[in-house]
Amino acid sequence: MSFDSKVTTAKSGKSDAILDWLQMCSGVALIIFVFMHMSLVSSVIINTNIMDTIAHTYEKNYMAQIGGPILFLLFLFHFYLAARKIPFRFEGQKTIWAHAKMMHHRDTWLWIVQVISAMLILVMGSIHMWAVLSDLPITAARSAARVQSGPWLYFYLVLAPLVVLHVVAGLYRIAVKWGFIRDYQRSKLNRFATGLAVVFICIGLATLVRFMTLTA
Ligand code: HEM
Repeated sequence: MSFDSKVTTAKSGKSDAILDWLQMCSGVALIIFVFMHMSLVSSVIINTNIMDTIAHTYEKNYMAQIGGPILFLLFLFHFYLAARKIPFRFEGQKTIWAHAKMMHHRDTWLWIVQVISAMLILVMGSIHMWAVLSDLPITAARSAARVQSGPWLYFYLVLAPLVVLHVVAGLYRIAVKWGFIRDYQRSKLNRFATGLAVVFICIGLATLVRFMTLTA
């Protein structure tokens, strides 16, 4: 290998590591956002006034008007970084599928789940943000009216579990890939991640039931 090609390889290795690190940081920010978002929206289960007060404070501080578009950019940035490793060509997809079947490895399947859910979340998350942010102010009554109209209930019944699966799988993969946990702790982490997913899927479903039963 020539000196020039060694330098080029070292440089591309370094920039790949930086992009990987940025992907992890943007992923962690989105994981925190999703858990906070689902918890705050679920306040409607306790009392509609709590959700209205949170939404009002959020908008009064321009967190929806400015924070919303910033979040959307972060969302796109994270997808752009992750897309470096997604095989968009059919040949690549066939190879990954064959490897996953051959290796019988749970973490390889988890990666496939993450890639497929990412595509759907990109489209559905964008539609959701557009629908909410173009119809401010946010109130429990308006959200309930939306969830009770058209296909929105089915839309959220798909989006909520999908988002939870994606972020929990992301959390697990970050912990393993960046060495936050050791090999022997993997099964413990797996149990924790499964529990977390079950809790947040239940919170999401309970929120939707509350929106469906709320009368104006
Ligand atoms: C600033 C951006 C966002 C705002 C202001 C916002 C606001 C809301 C509001 C008001 C609801 C109640 C239902 C409705 O009104 O239609 C809701 C529900 C929901 N949002 Fe968002 N959202 C944002 C971003 C996101 C993102 C990025 C995701 C994930 C990709 C997401 C996932 C969900 C889910 C799954 C529900 C259903 C509620 C549940 O079952 O817990 N949201 N959001």
